[in-house]
Amino acid sequence: MELTTARLFLRPFRAGDHGELHAIAGDPAVVRWMDWGPNTPEVTAVFLAYALESECEEPRRTWRFAVVRRSDGRLIGSAELHIESPEHRRGTMGYLISPAAQGHGYATEGARAVLEFGLTAGGLHRITATCDPENHSSVRVLEKIGMSREGHLRDHFLIRGEWRDRLLYAKLAQLR
Ligand SMILES: CC(C)(COP(=O)(O)OP(=O)(O)OC[C@H]1O[C@@H](n2cnc3c(N)ncnc32)[C@H](O)[C@@H]1OP(=O)(O)O)[C@@H](O)C(=O)NCCC(=O)NCCS
Repeated sequence: MELTTARLFLRPFRAGDHGELHAIAGDPAVVRWMDWGPNTPEVTAVFLAYALESECEEPRRTWRFAVVRRSDGRLIGSAELHIESPEHRRGTMGYLISPAAQGHGYATEGARAVLEFGLTAGGLHRITATCDPENHSSVRVLEKIGMSREGHLRDHFLIRGEWRDRLLYAKLAQLR
């Protein structure tokens, strides 16, 4: 599955993506708000192996996309859609963009494509995303792609020894 936007390809990961992916996932600034990382090269390799495996998953529950800039072919991030409950047609999504490529609207463009895919071809009724309340750029991305804030989850994650809240956002296939 490949999604194409004006400036990006969101394509399946390949084994050869390790170097570019690790430059992002191993960067402490990128994972500041994440409950994982910064990755060692080995952990990035494990992630990549899972990503390649999920391409063969049947029925498909997870899509992990390499976010590639069309103008130069550089891998500038990743995005993910996961079906949490097929029965309830509910999924979650996430994304990250390398520091060098931030501030150009790439996360918004990629996240919008993933959301759209999930709510149409993916057959989902509800997609959620969470972000740290202090992750202002991610809050903006979620708002720009039309997700609604539904809640404030207190002490949702223990991240590197610190309890962190999470804002909960969601979008429904049809607004009720
Ligand atoms: C969050 C992240 C994906 C944003 O990527 P990006 O490509 O820079 O996002 P965009 O350019 O599409 O949009 C960013 C928006 O945040 C705004 N923004 C940036 N810094 C901000 C700040 N400190 N306060 C308020 N808004 C801010 C930008 O102005 C832009 O909004 P605008 O279009 O209304 O001007 C990127 O910073 C990232 O990968 N961070 C690390 C991983 C992460 O946090 N992932 C999300 C987990 S929930």
